[in-house]
Amino acid sequence: MRKQVVLYKKLSPALMTRLQERADVIVIDEPNRDGLARLRAALPHAHGLLGASIKLDAGLLDLAPHLEAVSSVSVGIDNYDLEYLDQRGILLTNTPDVLTETTADTGFALILATARRVVELANLVRNGQWTSNLGPLHFGCDVHGKTLGIIGMGRIGEALAQRGHFGFGMPVVYHSHSPKPAVEKRFNAGYRTLDDLLKEADFICLTLPLTAETEGMIGTEQFALMRPQSIFINISRGKVVDEAALISALQNNQIRAAGLDVFEREPLDPTSPLLTLNNVVATPHMGSATHETREAMARCAVENLISALAGERPANLVNPEAWRKTDSDHKP
Ligand code: DGY
Repeated sequence: MRKQVVLYKKLSPALMTRLQERADVIVIDEPNRDGLARLRAALPHAHGLLGASIKLDAGLLDLAPHLEAVSSVSVGIDNYDLEYLDQRGILLTNTPDVLTETTADTGFALILATARRVVELANLVRNGQWTSNLGPLHFGCDVHGKTLGIIGMGRIGEALAQRGHFGFGMPVVYHSHSPKPAVEKRFNAGYRTLDDLLKEADFICLTLPLTAETEGMIGTEQFALMRPQSIFINISRGKVVDEAALISALQNNQIRAAGLDVFEREPLDPTSPLLTLNNVVATPHMGSATHETREAMARCAVENLISALAGERPANLVNPEAWRKTDSDHKP
């Protein structure tokens, strides 16, 4: 029997052909309101789901009694209830590695844009307000040689450290669950407690996943430890930060600037106070959004799903517990 895949993300023709060779595909397109209703209608037939950016909670997945695998076109897995998936033996896969370098590029774009006030000054030119040589009122601050602080030294954190250390001669400090000697050696990096990192770093970059443990981890107390010259960068998830506390830190000049690719609620409300502040560079969750990387992520997600539906252990399995549980055909 051919398996049914519900697809709620656009695929390139080549990947669509690849998927259709192995399964019947029900296409939902992007998850707008109509899409959600169509997704609900398609779920009772689904053996596999492929997409991203929808919170797939128990209420939704209970509609899919035949579901075997969910293939997320993302590295982040905060849209999924792992306990629920494990209980039902539904495999979850993600797309790590292929987006690491591109997401680190986005992080560095935000570092440069905030420090050198690129967006603000480019708008000056665009608006015909460049009438004389720039004076101190419009000067930015240097990036090279400043201390780069990375919170969450995973793959993306390491790729940021590489750019900072080798490209910009930045001393690197980091905070993670535990010290990482190999990283320290490679980037001459120093492990810090969270508080010490917040006090010391010029650029404080969040690259952590959103979990129950990290939600709201950076709030009023943490912003109070930063310095007026600190620049805060978030390329992880908006909910790791208390956004009201961030706004207040910016408004009270507790920190110099913020470069934000992610927000508590996305898309960001156009009336957000963040958008009234010249020292905020806000981008639309574009961390991995290049043609090459999005195609690579989609390819990875398609291959993960094909393996899962064929009863093979997918390369990027997130929940081995579900794999063990599924059936006796699976090897432990
Ligand atoms: C990811 O892959 O998790 C990116 O943040 C896109 O959601």
